[in-house]
Amino acid sequence: MAESRSAIAAIALFVTGLVAALPLAAQMGMGDPIRGQVLFASKGCVDCHAIRGAGGRIGPDLGRTAAKDSFFEIASGMWNHSVGMEEKIRELRRVRPVFEDTELRDLVAFVYFLNYFDEPGDAKTGKILFTEKHCVQCHRVEGEGGREGPSLESLPRGVSPLRIAQGLWNHGPEMVSSMRRRGLNVPQFRGAEIIDLFAYLRSQGQAREAREFQSAGDPGAGERLFAAKGCSRCHAVFGDEGEIGPDLGRMEFGGSVTQIAGRMWNHWPAMVEAMDMLEMRFPTFEEEELADLLAYVFVSRYAGTKGDPVRGREIYRAEGCAFCHGLDGEGTLGPPLEQVTPGSDSEEIIQRMWNHAPEMWGEMGEHQIEWPRFEAHQLADLLSFLRTAWE
Ligand code: HEC
Ligand code: HEC
Ligand code: HEC
Ligand code: HEC
Repeated sequence: MAESRSAIAAIALFVTGLVAALPLAAQMGMGDPIRGQVLFASKGCVDCHAIRGAGGRIGPDLGRTAAKDSFFEIASGMWNHSVGMEEKIRELRRVRPVFEDTELRDLVAFVYFLNYFDEPGDAKTGKILFTEKHCVQCHRVEGEGGREGPSLESLPRGVSPLRIAQGLWNHGPEMVSSMRRRGLNVPQFRGAEIIDLFAYLRSQGQAREAREFQSAGDPGAGERLFAAKGCSRCHAVFGDEGEIGPDLGRMEFGGSVTQIAGRMWNHWPAMVEAMDMLEMRFPTFEEEELADLLAYVFVSRYAGTKGDPVRGREIYRAEGCAFCHGLDGEGTLGPPLEQVTPGSDSEEIIQRMWNHAPEMWGEMGEHQIEWPRFEAHQLADLLSFLRTAWE
């Protein structure tokens, strides 16, 4: 398949970014995204799935549309669609992929990190946005524009998007008050606008500093900053308490870290109001701090909700698992699970479930049990039950 060969080449472009993601994945105990990338091709996923336009078109584009906010989200996506996938696999006379060792874990890590890095922005669109969002009224680029703010040509060429976002954030108090003086609203970034706008600024920067490559931040440092900068006073990441700001684990992101920075900016007025209420100092960032902070926000979402084993037991009974594996995992039509799942981690269990799906289909068809589909949080509950069950 010539098409899939060129797709593999296109996906290989992610490798530079993924190398930067390796230490992040390791810190989180995730799989190896680079091995995952290789598996994505060797297991034939690429024949049916594109990544940002490169690859097959039979399944959804995993770079763009598919939800992948956490491990459970990706795993439940694969699981829920496995019947649909199987039909296509038969139609195309392919071999259904099965996984061993850490393969599924690595593959999921790869899919997860696809969101981390920006799509290439479009500088032409960015130039239009620079005017539409009124930046041009205060900032000069290409010799034109207002003088109230600094010339943005003084940025280094190719500067990393998060550095620009950091500048925007740090100068927020001054900038927002001069916007308000001019009767302008704080600009909002939708979809990929911030990526296009920054692509334009990155292409126009004149400063002759060494070109920074867009490194991934350090989530360990980011976790400390999350507390030190006061984010944790208002935000939980998969927490239980009611908080002032939204739980950053539970909200749908579906974008790159730069887009997360954009959303943080969009909420600027509300956040500042809340900070005033708490008499907090407005936090600013230096060096790689924003990159570190957002790396933490990004990777800490991978683990998803902890899952509740009590609810998991209900799901185990309601979805027919108990019918074939026994109320206490002793096994009936299906094999006993009592020895298999306790103490395993979620990735291992879902890998076993995935590998055995064809036999399950067979049995389920005969007993007219419907294929169980799970929301991400239900899968988290079920797996947390299976990890700790039958004690
Ligand atoms: C023969 C084609 C085919 C192959 C091979 C295939 N898929 Fe799929 N995949 C599909 C189709 C079709 C769907 C959508 C099914 C549906 O809508 O029910 C899908 C859905 C998915 C989803 C859910 C997407 C969402 O929107 O939530 C994920 C995740 C996924 N596949 C991952 C993989 C991975 C990883 C591999 C490789 C191990 C793979 N697929 C191999 C055809 C395929
Ligand atoms: C009403 C005027 C105004 C508008 C509109 C405006 N800015 Fe600014 N901007 C400023 C001022 C003033 C500063 C410097 C604030 C300070 O000194 O703290 C600034 C600072 C910045 C910085 C920090 C530069 C650095 O050296 O790090 C960036 C980046 C920036 N603006 C980007 C933008 C973008 C992008 C837009 C459009 C979405 C925009 N600004 C719209 C007035 C404006
Ligand atoms: C004083 C409370 C407070 C602090 C401190 C605070 N936030 Fe927020 N944050 C909020 C509130 C409130 C919202 C939602 C605003 C709205 O609904 O418009 C929000 C929204 C956000 C969003 C956007 C969520 C979305 O739905 O798109 C992000 C991202 C975010 N905050 C990150 C951070 C980070 C990172 C820090 C630390 C530097 C931080 N916040 C500090 C109160 C706070
Ligand atoms: C209709 C019967 C049936 C239902 C319902 C069923 N399974 Fe299975 N399951 C099987 C069979 C049969 C196998 C063994 C397949 C094989 O040997 O390859 C199996 C295998 C497994 C395995 C792998 C065990 C191992 O040793 O690797 C796990 C884990 C599992 N099932 C979990 C579940 C869960 C969780 C549910 C509920 C969502 C469920 N099963 C629902 C019949 C079923």
